[in-house]
Amino acid sequence: MIHYASETKTFNLWLDTSFYVFQIDGEGRPVHLGWGLLPEGAGAADSLRGSVYADSYDTLLSFYTQYRPDEVLAFGEIITYQETLKVHFPSLSQQPDASEALHFPVRDLRLRYVDHEIVTDAQPGLTPLREQPTQNAAPRETLRLLLRDPAYPFYVTLCYRLTPEHDVIERWLELENRGDDAVTVESCNFASLHLPNGHQELTTASGAWAREFQIQRERLKPGLRLVESRALQTGHASNPFFFMNRPEQAWEDSGVVYFGQLAYSGSWRLAFEQLPTGQVRVHGGYNPFDFGLSLAPGERHVTPSFNCGVCREGWGGASRRLHAFLQERVLPRSANWSGLRPVLYNSWESTQFDINFENQVALARRAAAIGVELFCVDDGWFGSRSSDTSGLGDWFVREEAFPEGLEPLVAEVERLGMRFGLWVEPEMVNPDSALYRAHPDWVLHFPGRPRTEARNQLILDFGRPEVVEHIFKVLDDLVNRYRVAFFKWDMNRYTSEPGSAAGREIWLRHVAGVYSIMDRLRRKHPGLEIQSCSGGGGRIDAGIMGRTDQVWLSDNTDAFDRLAIQEGFSMAYPARTMEAWVTDSPNEITQRPSPLALRFDVAMRGALGIGSNLNRLDEAELAAYAEYIRFYKRFRHVVQHGKLYRLQRLEEYGTSMILYVMPEGREAVYSLAIRDFLTGKHLPQAALRGLNPTAVYSVRDWHGDEVYRLNGTELMTLGIPREPNLVAGYSRTLYLVQIEEQNYV
Ligand code: DGJ
Repeated sequence: MIHYASETKTFNLWLDTSFYVFQIDGEGRPVHLGWGLLPEGAGAADSLRGSVYADSYDTLLSFYTQYRPDEVLAFGEIITYQETLKVHFPSLSQQPDASEALHFPVRDLRLRYVDHEIVTDAQPGLTPLREQPTQNAAPRETLRLLLRDPAYPFYVTLCYRLTPEHDVIERWLELENRGDDAVTVESCNFASLHLPNGHQELTTASGAWAREFQIQRERLKPGLRLVESRALQTGHASNPFFFMNRPEQAWEDSGVVYFGQLAYSGSWRLAFEQLPTGQVRVHGGYNPFDFGLSLAPGERHVTPSFNCGVCREGWGGASRRLHAFLQERVLPRSANWSGLRPVLYNSWESTQFDINFENQVALARRAAAIGVELFCVDDGWFGSRSSDTSGLGDWFVREEAFPEGLEPLVAEVERLGMRFGLWVEPEMVNPDSALYRAHPDWVLHFPGRPRTEARNQLILDFGRPEVVEHIFKVLDDLVNRYRVAFFKWDMNRYTSEPGSAAGREIWLRHVAGVYSIMDRLRRKHPGLEIQSCSGGGGRIDAGIMGRTDQVWLSDNTDAFDRLAIQEGFSMAYPARTMEAWVTDSPNEITQRPSPLALRFDVAMRGALGIGSNLNRLDEAELAAYAEYIRFYKRFRHVVQHGKLYRLQRLEEYGTSMILYVMPEGREAVYSLAIRDFLTGKHLPQAALRGLNPTAVYSVRDWHGDEVYRLNGTELMTLGIPREPNLVAGYSRTLYLVQIEEQNYV
């Protein structure tokens, strides 16, 4: 609910358990008042209306004025700390006299209240239009607060869209130049968040290729802590989400936690700032590094959103809110969406570039026999692509590998009852390719300067509309020709020499180009699904999730390493999107052996995939794969749609114990994996969560055998009976189903 108290010009944003309040001060500036948890029992009628708080900042003298928590911190009046937005005006209505000429352009923006409206059809920038049913059918309210600079007709609309059931507010800016001169935007966050003083403990994820999503926890010092990507994709080094709480006052299932995530896949930045006063701010949006955006007269720019919220159920509660929000409000549903992610097979670890019709058909037959539903041919099927040195850009079939074309393979995959998927890396080109020879000017570069290759490839210039159009056509043709049901969309290098036909706007235009191709393809082919991959987990965020069904977390498929990667991912993103493969042992990257049970138990925590070389497995191994896949299919709806509780985290125990639970505790999946066995250390028992205390549960193992029959209260107090075998590599998955049983003792 959004309520405006006109007598004090106070805006109250009321969500299920949290509130957000700001007020227009005497100068017309929106000033932040508070954001936090509603007192128990408080309702909409108790919103703030009577008092004037905001003007107290103007009574503060001298140095203190710089601490005023403006809802949008516009560079000019307040510049000592980070701004939300900085623009410059080339001229104002009066021309400077000669003595003032050097003061131009004017780097001063004042934003004053003009008007506001509450609407139900607002959308942040770069959002694909979605019409899909949600549990809460009520239209979501957005507060649009129109502000303008008094001297130049530059308008900024502050937007706040509420999803009350998840306590999430999406924040974004709309910029509009209604003047006669171009306005240059020098930096632009989607929003600046003001947290109550003392919320200095920060949780983020950082990593690298093959080691993505490692959780970092730190205490903010005075000053700035930057978490960012300086690439055309989200990046492996950090991910655009965070949790913040008072130091040591939040844990997995308790404590007040503020959380946020950016819905953007380009060069982004989260700036965590602690002022000398102890005030904490989080600025999130476009990375100002090499940023460029100019608004011509009449032009508008709508930023993507910075999604944020607060809850009192610890990091676990923050994760569950983000999961539910993404599941219900962000993830696409294709026409093939059955409510469940299919079990996938991917050829990469089996055949790499040594790909041909015979080995793919053999893999497909074995995959279908063990229960795979979607067969994806990875790199190597096109152009002259027999290694990573050539062929990228030439999206036609490699005749050497598929003399009859791809059609016979597609037909066989479909005959076997699976859908057909194809790997592509559309933003790239190898210099050794027909595309590059025809269009050497189509790549990012600066004229007359060297073009740095990485993995032997260059990046196409999506600042050129004809390049974006070309890629759309290529992919559209592939879907038409091969009935592609699933693209694995990869991107395997970072940026260098960002010279583009779009100038510095390439940072925005590249992301917009990628999104537009995906959105157009999906509109034209409603059954099409897409996986986001970038050399593993380099493009995972709430923006790409608006148009992709699942994401690839890491090229590291070692089940031991995967536990930490998946745990970090689970902080912000739902299990349904987490493609996770069982691969061969020893692992191809780490060379570490691991038991099949561990490999399945870890991969079954998300959207299960198989990457093992099935052509080399014997009958007994294939039978075991088939039995695991049958088991997974019995409970995957719980993993993909249930609430996630992290009962034991690696950080504390070297053990990962998680639970997925359906509403009312109807069913649950318990998954335990021991990564480090600490000699002499006893694992505490973990009480399960979210079950029905009065129900009886049949607890079943992967053969479908009942191993325990326990009631909800037992499970929610004592947990699963002590695990017998706590060595590193031990794991198990149990499926808990409520059963009718009278007089259970
Ligand atoms: C990187 C991806 O993460 C891998 O899964 C695989 O698709 C290769 N690229 C192919 O080049």
